[in-house]
Amino acid sequence: MTLYLIGLGLGNEKDITVRGLEIVRKAKFVYLESYTSRLNCSHERLERFYFAENEKNINSFKKIILADRNLVENHADEILDKAKADDVAFLVVGDVFSATTHHDLRLRALKEGIKVEIINNVSIMTAVGVTGLDLYKFGRTTTVVFPEPNFFPETPYDVIKMNLANGLHTLCLLDIKVEFNAKGEKIREMYMDVNEALHLLMAIAEKRKDADEENENIINENTKVVGCARLGSENQLIKFGTVKELLNFNFGEPLHALIIPGKLHFMEEEVLEMYNL
Ligand SMILES: C[S@@+](CC[C@H](N)C(=O)[O-])C[C@H]1O[C@@H](n2cnc3c(N)ncnc32)[C@H](O)[C@@H]1O
Repeated sequence: MTLYLIGLGLGNEKDITVRGLEIVRKAKFVYLESYTSRLNCSHERLERFYFAENEKNINSFKKIILADRNLVENHADEILDKAKADDVAFLVVGDVFSATTHHDLRLRALKEGIKVEIINNVSIMTAVGVTGLDLYKFGRTTTVVFPEPNFFPETPYDVIKMNLANGLHTLCLLDIKVEFNAKGEKIREMYMDVNEALHLLMAIAEKRKDADEENENIINENTKVVGCARLGSENQLIKFGTVKELLNFNFGEPLHALIIPGKLHFMEEEVLEMYNL
């Protein structure tokens, strides 16, 4: 049968495409990849929206199976075995292959003779266009991760530096940590906010400041940056201001992302002004 990889978009249960929804409703099993992103609604709300119209008794709803990293990366057989006999929908928040790597699942399915179909949707990688920053002028994307003892990667700083040298904007995705218990229930969720990301970038800048004169202007309190929260949802929030201003601004609920603009065209500046803090 078929493994359907379906993007859910960024907002809530209603952002699935009509084609995606039709497949979800007819699939025998529905998995929701639950560790690289999240929607602004619970998975129970997804279940009600996807299945309630088809089934009268609330207890007989088809259930969504939450897929954690361990299931997808180490026990994908569970998903693939089902897809050999029945249609399986694998739901990914945002777009299926944008900033998320589910190629392993796709390749394994194909190698095992399972048909794979992909249903695209909007991604954080394109939703940032709303800021006015030209998508053609984004350089490499980076992720700011939660530091751990003996682990504080400085890669985001180097990526920003490289992009700035080429006049390009940098999209910084912010780390997510989600833990599940043995029953597959979420027991802990941590989403980095814009404030923490700025603190971490400033800490790296401080470490690097003597290394190289060029570092002076990579990021400092006066650098103007763009903070984004819940893009694509009804309550999305975008603010353009200096690092100092944004460090203390409350962006509210996750998810958040940060953009360090490169060289700005006057049209980009004009749109950004709408988001001045
Ligand atoms: C791995 S990426 C998500 C990839 C997803 N497949 C997509 O296409 O959007 C997850 C990170 O992107 C950012 N992100 C995703 N959705 C967002 C949204 N709606 N608003 C702001 N940031 C978002 C956050 O920094 C989050 O930690």
